[in-house]
Amino acid sequence: MRMRKKKHGEERLAACRAILCEKEQAPLGAALIADASAPVCLEIGCGKGGFACAMAEKHPDRAFFAMERIPNVMICALEKAMARVEERTADNLRFIIANADDLEEWFAPASVDFLYLNFSDPWPKARHTARRLTHRNYLQKYFRVLKPTGVLQFKTDNVALFDFTLEEIEALGLTPVALTRDLHHSSYMEDNVMTEYEMNFSSQGYPIHMLRLTPPKK
Ligand SMILES: C[S@@+](CC[C@H](N)C(=O)[O-])C[C@H]1O[C@@H](n2cnc3c(N)ncnc32)[C@H](O)[C@@H]1O
Repeated sequence: MRMRKKKHGEERLAACRAILCEKEQAPLGAALIADASAPVCLEIGCGKGGFACAMAEKHPDRAFFAMERIPNVMICALEKAMARVEERTADNLRFIIANADDLEEWFAPASVDFLYLNFSDPWPKARHTARRLTHRNYLQKYFRVLKPTGVLQFKTDNVALFDFTLEEIEALGLTPVALTRDLHHSSYMEDNVMTEYEMNFSSQGYPIHMLRLTPPKK
């Protein structure tokens, strides 16, 4: 996501610090913001935060964390979440400015119930394959922080990235537990929450692909 440097970025981040996690709080978990037994949800690459806000509003019984590596982009997500505070019946949403590479510095092993990847950057060049957030190295990282009963959900409009992801999953000896190449005309649509990219691409007529995975059985 390209974005011009925001004016007064530092001050704007500071104004949202109540919902921004600090490294000292790690490992993050439900106890930080909710009942310690609440399911922990994590979105990686949250962009402008629409999905995270809507999910936290829809599921007050869950603790929702949203990670984004670009501070400038995160300002939009944080300010959106601050503006929508009245929509949340629980104080259950927090943001993390970090790279997915450092996921395990923020979350303990087997601590996350739901992990969401929404419209991850496709990195189409072959030399950038390892940067794709569904590369097998990332998938293995996600499986380490997911509980054995956890679920990873991936959505994209990008057919090449979806096909690549299926190859990576197969290389790990796994099979998706759910899969559709047209989410908006499937039964999974019932509980779907749209992201900013999803609204944009689906309004242009692109079918949305979705899959769900569970960690390998030990
Ligand atoms: C294409 S945007 C999608 C934004 C949002 N999920 C949506 O669906 O509207 C992908 C986002 O992922 C973030 N991102 C990419 N690689 C990342 C990484 N390694 N760690 C954290 N965030 C990342 C980008 O900065 C960008 O904001």
